[in-house]
Amino acid sequence: MLRLSNISNNSWRLIQCRPILQQSKQNVATEHGSQQMPETTTTLRKRPTQLTDEIIRVDHAGELGADRIYAGQMAVLGNGPMGKTIAHMWEQEKEHRRKFEKLIQEHRVRPTVMVPIWNVAGFMLGAGTALLGEKAAMACTVAVETVIVEHYNEQLRQIMASPKPDKELLDTITKFRDEEQEHHDTGIDCGAEQAPFYKAITEVIKIGCKTAIAISKRI
Ligand SMILES: [Fe+2]
Ligand SMILES: [Fe+2]
Repeated sequence: MLRLSNISNNSWRLIQCRPILQQSKQNVATEHGSQQMPETTTTLRKRPTQLTDEIIRVDHAGELGADRIYAGQMAVLGNGPMGKTIAHMWEQEKEHRRKFEKLIQEHRVRPTVMVPIWNVAGFMLGAGTALLGEKAAMACTVAVETVIVEHYNEQLRQIMASPKPDKELLDTITKFRDEEQEHHDTGIDCGAEQAPFYKAITEVIKIGCKTAIAISKRI
């Protein structure tokens, strides 16, 4: 009993040490003026326009929420027949989230104060609908992705109408919009419309997503 406890403590201490070692490596490189930049270096850019600022904040929140929704679905359905399909979509959402996390740092955009709420709410939405069954999970995917595709299309119109369209943001959002559309189509192909109370489930989720978008734009 005592030995197990000691092993457990030692393991915990090793895990805790790892980030500290990595951090000190970076410090040494800085102190000695090395040209080799650590991989985590963030390139700071000019402060963005109000439009870019708003787009990055709200999209970062949305992609974080999407990541958590698929995490919730995977927690319930990951080992079932839908596991591979959901895992593929989740991987793409993780990539979307990483991109907006990078942009938020580089442009010094303030994330929405709702981040902790969306983190929990996203997971609960994904897991909650998955507990109702695979088709209900797919109905959730269809509802969320419908709103996100519309939202990204609206942003693409706004960027193109701006005096200096941000090319990187245009390319990023176009690519992500296409992938969200694929997620939507996958949901339909996997029987979302056969979910019990499909109309009611999707309408409620769509209203929730639109409200989350409106809040994340502002605070
Ligand atoms: Fe996404
Ligand atoms: Fe998606």
